[in-house]
Amino acid sequence: MANVVNSTAAKLHISPTLEINELVSKAREQGKHVIHLGFGEATFPIQQDVLQAHQDASNETSYMPVAGIENLRASIASFNADRLGVKISPDQVVVAPGSKPLLFGLFDILDGAVLLPRPSWVSYEPQVLHARKRLFWVETDPVDRHTITESSLLSAHQKAISEGVIPRIMLINSPSNPTGHVFSASCIRTIKEFCRSKEIVLITDEIYSDICFDESQKGTSAFDSSNDDTETVILTGGLSKTYSAGGWRIGYAIFPPSEKGEIIRKTILAYASECWSAASTPAQLASIKAFSTSEAMCSYRKSVTALHRYCTGKLYSALKELGLDVGQPGGGFYVYPSFSPYAAQLDKLGISTSADLSAWLIRECGLATLPGSAFGEDDDGPLHGRFRLRMSTSYLYFQSEIERYEKGYALLESCASGKDIQLPYLEEAIEALENAVQKLKSVRL
Ligand SMILES: Cc1ncc(COP(=O)(O)O)c(C=O)c1O
Repeated sequence: MANVVNSTAAKLHISPTLEINELVSKAREQGKHVIHLGFGEATFPIQQDVLQAHQDASNETSYMPVAGIENLRASIASFNADRLGVKISPDQVVVAPGSKPLLFGLFDILDGAVLLPRPSWVSYEPQVLHARKRLFWVETDPVDRHTITESSLLSAHQKAISEGVIPRIMLINSPSNPTGHVFSASCIRTIKEFCRSKEIVLITDEIYSDICFDESQKGTSAFDSSNDDTETVILTGGLSKTYSAGGWRIGYAIFPPSEKGEIIRKTILAYASECWSAASTPAQLASIKAFSTSEAMCSYRKSVTALHRYCTGKLYSALKELGLDVGQPGGGFYVYPSFSPYAAQLDKLGISTSADLSAWLIRECGLATLPGSAFGEDDDGPLHGRFRLRMSTSYLYFQSEIERYEKGYALLESCASGKDIQLPYLEEAIEALENAVQKLKSVRL
């Protein structure tokens, strides 16, 4: 049979995050109990005014401007200007149906090979490869998978040059999915300086930036709205994480007001006009409220951060207690432990990769997690990386949509005001992890 899809498209598969969801649904249909730590979908109840604004706009059916509704671009510009302490004009903002298509478009239109920290969110690598670009991993500290150093940047760059390609794009994501790490100001300075010296466009994916456990780090960003053409930094963000509205599909990019920034912005607008036209109108109208700096929204963002900090912190402490190698998350809602301290036991069980380990956990312990290999970890690389799993806390709050709205607002409020809260699904997850480690400890060596 002749090829139906081209050779680049043939390499695409369903994203591992969505695949694990399907596996969990199947196991549950078979009556199995599965604790879902595999999917990073924020599930808190949507802030009431934002929800109301979406309902009120449901009869708005016209296409909006390609770049997004002006008031929404103004709201996004002013929110980020406040957070970062820089000037941002609404004209620098482009709104899209999620930040994912914007990232996809940016990898597609920008020139040159790509540098990505290892590990990185599951979708960047397929997006880069689909844009027919070469990807070079920038190694992070092998023990906690956190820090990027100048030497790791130079070594990834050197590798690309030795293979005859020039990196012109780099992406960083802080707080990071999967590690929960927040880059320090000095680390960001190192990355920016490196990108400037090598004429690399830097994309900073800040979709988790509100969920920083140390309030003072919320404004730490590579984006400075500079009009200096020797550096080009593009910021992306959206509605999916802080506002628990992933399905409404609202994301944005902010471009620098420099000549290069303008060229990229205009090109992505032309791309958008031929591809998605505009983001959903009711969702855009509701987002004007979401990104506002009103007292109600600031307090909502605070409560969301407090609850993620509490739950993610508890899971991190439990994993540490169980003897796993795990870095302390500084933001987001993920932990990224390595089971490498139990490498001998895993070997006895015939488990040699993070995918084997993730399959064993779902089969034997009813725990769904994502393997490190989905984030670029090398199955033939160092031990730490081979046994890493990403665990998401976002499904540990409610069992149903009804519970989400009946209990969610009170839970957010209680956590923010420091009251005692009960998270039975978190306790259950910790117990299942204790049992899994007990199983490993009981393997005869
Ligand atoms: C690091 C990161 N960037 C971007 C996205 C995309 O979010 P959206 O397309 O919903 O804006 C996600 C979603 O999981 C993510 O984890």
